[in-house]
Amino acid sequence: MGSRIFTVLCLLLNISVSRQYEVGQTYVYFLKTDVFLNDGSDHVNQKTGRQVGYGLEGRVKLTPLWRDPQAVSNRILEIDFEEAHLVVAPAEKKSSTERKQHASDLDGATHRPMYALFKDDEIVRVWVASNDDPTYLNIKKGIASMFQYQTSSQIKHSQVDVSGKCKVTLKADGSHVKKIKEDCDHPDLEQYEHPNPVRSVNVKTSSQTNYQLTHDASAVQSAKASESVRMSVNAWPEASIEVTAQHSLKLGDSSSSRAAISIRAGGDELEAIRALESSLSNYKQDTIIARPSEVNHAKKFKGSLKDRISLFRDQLTTDKLASLKSPMAFVTLLESFRIASENDVAESLKDPKNARILPQLLDIAGASQTLAAIRGTLRILSLENEDTTLSERFLLSLAMASHPGPEFVAELHKIAKKDLKNQKSYATLIASLGSVLRHALGNHAQMKEANEARKWLEVRLGQCTSDDCKLVFLRALKNAAQASSIPVLLTHLKSSTKLTAPALLRALQEIGSLYFTPDVFNSLERVYFQTRAKQESTARALAAEMIFQSGDKARIERLVGAIRSLGCPELQTFVASKFVELIELGRSREAGKVLSNHSVSNYDSLAHGGLSSTFTRLLARSRDLNVTYGLNMELIPGGLLKQTHFDINVQTSPTEDMPLISVNIFAAGLAGIAGGDTSGNEVRNSYISQVDDEEDATAGMVLSILGTELRPYVFFRGNGELMSHVFAGTASDHTPALQGNFLLMDHMQLVPLLNGLIVQLQLKGCVSTDLGGSVQVSLWNRNSHSIVHSAGAVLVQGSARLLSDVAAARVEVNVGAESFLDFITDFEFYEKPYKMCIQMRNPGLTMRHHVRKYEAIDGKQHLVRTLRRRSSRIEGKSYPLTAKNSELCTEMFGES
Ligand SMILES: *[C@@H]1O[C@H](CO)[C@@H](O)[C@H](O)[C@H]1NC(C)=O
Ligand SMILES: *[C@@H]1O[C@H](CO)[C@@H](O)[C@H](O)[C@H]1NC(C)=O
Repeated sequence: MGSRIFTVLCLLLNISVSRQYEVGQTYVYFLKTDVFLNDGSDHVNQKTGRQVGYGLEGRVKLTPLWRDPQAVSNRILEIDFEEAHLVVAPAEKKSSTERKQHASDLDGATHRPMYALFKDDEIVRVWVASNDDPTYLNIKKGIASMFQYQTSSQIKHSQVDVSGKCKVTLKADGSHVKKIKEDCDHPDLEQYEHPNPVRSVNVKTSSQTNYQLTHDASAVQSAKASESVRMSVNAWPEASIEVTAQHSLKLGDSSSSRAAISIRAGGDELEAIRALESSLSNYKQDTIIARPSEVNHAKKFKGSLKDRISLFRDQLTTDKLASLKSPMAFVTLLESFRIASENDVAESLKDPKNARILPQLLDIAGASQTLAAIRGTLRILSLENEDTTLSERFLLSLAMASHPGPEFVAELHKIAKKDLKNQKSYATLIASLGSVLRHALGNHAQMKEANEARKWLEVRLGQCTSDDCKLVFLRALKNAAQASSIPVLLTHLKSSTKLTAPALLRALQEIGSLYFTPDVFNSLERVYFQTRAKQESTARALAAEMIFQSGDKARIERLVGAIRSLGCPELQTFVASKFVELIELGRSREAGKVLSNHSVSNYDSLAHGGLSSTFTRLLARSRDLNVTYGLNMELIPGGLLKQTHFDINVQTSPTEDMPLISVNIFAAGLAGIAGGDTSGNEVRNSYISQVDDEEDATAGMVLSILGTELRPYVFFRGNGELMSHVFAGTASDHTPALQGNFLLMDHMQLVPLLNGLIVQLQLKGCVSTDLGGSVQVSLWNRNSHSIVHSAGAVLVQGSARLLSDVAAARVEVNVGAESFLDFITDFEFYEKPYKMCIQMRNPGLTMRHHVRKYEAIDGKQHLVRTLRRRSSRIEGKSYPLTAKNSELCTEMFGES
């Protein structure tokens, strides 16, 4: 009687724990698993066509070899996968989801069992045959992971399985167990991402497995898992891809097995491991995480880098810039450059057949951001060349590096320390170094090499003895935009000049007000109020802008209250306009409060008669994206141009934005050549006119592309140079100022599925630009006509493919558009008041959307290839600037 009760008790206790996977049994399961890849754009009525992908079928044999008598959830299992076959939808069927077995290399692949040590129901170690087929091995790791479950509910913040480290939620209810995996992190070091969210992707993964246990809960009766991976481009959700997978395991029969690890009774885990290892030959320890045998697709291409380039030679000529052909070739060749050796890079660039496309190849070499590419390129390109077209082109492409590694940063720093004699190349090199640091530190804030280079820039700034030298390093610190540079910048602000003060303030602005202490705000106020020294109007306006944007209410009130006494109507107009602009854009809550305090915000402080203005407007808008254009126009008293700042920004949320391009045209000392009464009774009490009158005539342009500020491009310096341009008409032809293909996006991520197949997600984006301009000045008529023509094409390519050596499946989504924007300025200066009319023209654009799919079985007859295209049109329109501008345009040209 007593012993019966004991047996029943034992049974009851055993049910949930101790009888799991008994030694002496082999459990046989039938596995069926399927992966589907498709375009993920969620357009209504958008047929996405045939899905690609493949599946696997086979028999899983699970044999428990040892169980810890002290802790029953610790055990060693042998896992094997037999009679494995690939399944695909027949190629000739257009949209079949029903898949059938197809011959593949999997059929004859040798396979040996894998061994897994489970502790507390988690796999902590595995042993695999050294020569196992890598695809096969990953499949077994996936299968083992499917047996990683437990019979009690729990949330585990970090559990490792085939996918990497994940958050796992287990819900157990009798013989049902539900397992949800989230936020998996694969440890592969070859993965990379872009630190700027606008230039990155959103990847959503989900994985849920429902287990039905046998009636005594001793084993899995069946498991059904569904997974999905969705990647969409933050700035362009049109470019998205979806991968879905279904896996099912069903218990067939179990048979008795004589396999077991025999150790002495009561032997512990260590003994069991020792016994296992001594029974295996040619095995090694491994982790449960699936690893790709090869990440880079380009390695599979036949032929050298030279051969690959020759396929794209026609698309890479300079006349194809700003059309979609150029960025398409760029993103396709990028991987080939990434795997190329130093020698391959040098040989390809030296090839006379590539002479015509060399500038475009330099763009790709720089964007590949490998040490081999820098060294290979610098073997054939001298940074000391007097003609800097090519060297600056290459240096600028380096600035776009999205995931610069420590060696890359160190190499660039080493080159920067060499002190080039060529001042143009040097300035571009230092500016690029700054940009590289921004991305390096954006990805890894602690990167030693990058922090050293940043400190070096700060020290070199301190050693400069001229303003020109300081501007070079300030530009780099602005491009780097590191909060740790703030103290250095503040120190220099105390002894700044009219040239360096705006550069210092722009660097602070780029770093962002998130890092501004009261100390920073106090310094800004001192600039605005000229407490310590006379300040340049641009600097005062910048200081005001930063305080309006993020200062506290009392500070903003002080500033607004003082606008009327700034001493120059153009500056007053500009600052008041900035204040109103920021409120309209909703960029400053505090400024909004000050606007409603009428004792400071009133007609006296906000209404001034100048022509200066600043505003930001919408250029284009979609559901997830705003593209804005902004114009800041600062004039000097009398209405001569001091600078115009035109920029285009892409915004994906109120806090996430990306500067696409900015064109800053500056001029000084033009008063001498303008007509009209320059010494008359007009407002001339300003500090600005006193400062500006001392200057030689100068004009130039500063361009920024994707947040990287380039060295200035000077049209002329000195009256003599201006006159020679005017008489020779040298500036009246279209002159290119910025040409190239720039890396916009760059992302690579691995997501192993529960069947061990690895999904590789990639995103590449490229902006191709051709920006130039012309100026015609007539001294006879005292007028000028200038055009800045910015043409560009943007291509974003997202792709997903299954990494395996047996079959290929890939979906690639390309979204692109090309367009241009003309910025036309007419200026009449024969009498006061001068008149200026600015017009902006854009022909609209056509968005193109291509989806390519590909499916093939290595070495076998099975090939699916599809291409779907669609396009949509955004019409061009004329873009409003200010009311005053329209009025002047009408006055100068009649009806506009
Ligand atoms: C308006 O601004 C003035 C000047 O700074 C300040 O003294 C006053 O308290 C403000 N009024 C309100 C209602 O905030
Ligand atoms: C675009 O701008 C509008 C208003 O100007 C704003 O409501 C919306 O949130 C913006 N969209 C994004 C994606 O930033």
